Amino acid sequence: MNISDIRKDFPFFNRKQPFLYFDTACMSLRPQQVISAMNDYYENYSSCGGRSNHDLAQHVSKLVGETREVIAKHLNAKSSDEIIFTRNATESMNILANGLSLQQGDTVIVSGKEHNSNLIPWLRLKEKRGITVLITPLLQDNTLDLAELEVLVKTATNLRLVSMVATSNVDGVTFPVANIVKIAHQQGALVHIDGAQFIPHQKADVRALDIDFLSLSGHKMLGPSGTGILYGKKELLDQLDTYNVGGSTVAASTYDSYELLGVPARFEAGLQDYAGIIALKEAFLYLQKVGYGFIHDQELKIGKIIHEGLYADSRIKVIGPQDYTQRAGVFSFYVPGADIHEISLLLNNTYQIAVRSGQHCVHSWFNANNIHGSVRASWYFYNTEEEAEIFVKAVKSILDIVV
Ligand SMILES: Cc1ncc(COP(=O)(O)O)c(C=O)c1O
Repeated sequence: MNISDIRKDFPFFNRKQPFLYFDTACMSLRPQQVISAMNDYYENYSSCGGRSNHDLAQHVSKLVGETREVIAKHLNAKSSDEIIFTRNATESMNILANGLSLQQGDTVIVSGKEHNSNLIPWLRLKEKRGITVLITPLLQDNTLDLAELEVLVKTATNLRLVSMVATSNVDGVTFPVANIVKIAHQQGALVHIDGAQFIPHQKADVRALDIDFLSLSGHKMLGPSGTGILYGKKELLDQLDTYNVGGSTVAASTYDSYELLGVPARFEAGLQDYAGIIALKEAFLYLQKVGYGFIHDQELKIGKIIHEGLYADSRIKVIGPQDYTQRAGVFSFYVPGADIHEISLLLNNTYQIAVRSGQHCVHSWFNANNIHGSVRASWYFYNTEEEAEIFVKAVKSILDIVV
């Protein structure tokens, strides 16, 4: 694999006005084969899957099935029935939160660094049904306090679920998923992993890790916008309730009764984003072609340049551990006394560099730490070391202005 060949696959890099894209943690760029697969659907066989028996619809159903197979294999799921298509990771987590039938007295444990999508659904259940939500503290360097997790797990009443982010979108740190699963399972609790920032960057074998549920976001891993996945062990999905019902979720109905279909159909109500699902297969195939080894190495090369260029600058504060290899793909910083949004706008307006500023949907962590927000640069295997150098220079020039 070589970076210049890879960049040829991404039409974005042929823009007439080049832009340095460092906002992958929000949304990744897409290779041509993903875009072409979407176009092919709309141009050549744009019809509904799973219903009509004409050739076009049969083709859609076949390709949707193929995407399910490819993803199941990628995650090493036991069967493709364990893969549910959703609109995004947020929807995956809401399906889980609403389907587990949690009641007053039940406990869910999360971490102190959760995206709102893995916090608000549980806080809603606390408000509506009286469940208890416990927050696992973080260590000084923003990594997970596993010893505290163990204590919480052992002392919680009716612990039903440990639901945790794997890789943080704030600082790029990956929690030790295998340890989290082990600790939770020892106490008989289920485990859900928010993998939105995990699977784009790392290989994860759901069976080896023994993950019960996993939420994924297609658009953060080269897939089309508005594609997500909920993985669940089949025997657990069979017991999971569903709230979004109607077309495609039932085998039959009368005026006063209905018979729900099995998994995964009963979680995929109504006509689906067929173009997105079909093109999502291409995203996974592309990732497999590039390989996680290359992804990891390229991300670290870029991380090293940014770390060496900026970490020691006394004007900025970097979020997360000092060791940049633990902050793969993300450099999140703030500048005491300066406005983070002004910094990101200057990066955009003066240098055509796209980053994100704010609390990145992790308001709870920022509020708990009394930090207003951060500027977050997030890169992927399609970015280059030259881009990292340009970014470092641009940030330094902006610091000379704003500080
Ligand atoms: C860690 C994490 N979890 C969940 C989400 C939500 O993902 P989606 O946009 O697919 O709902 C994000 C998106 O930024 C994220 O970074």
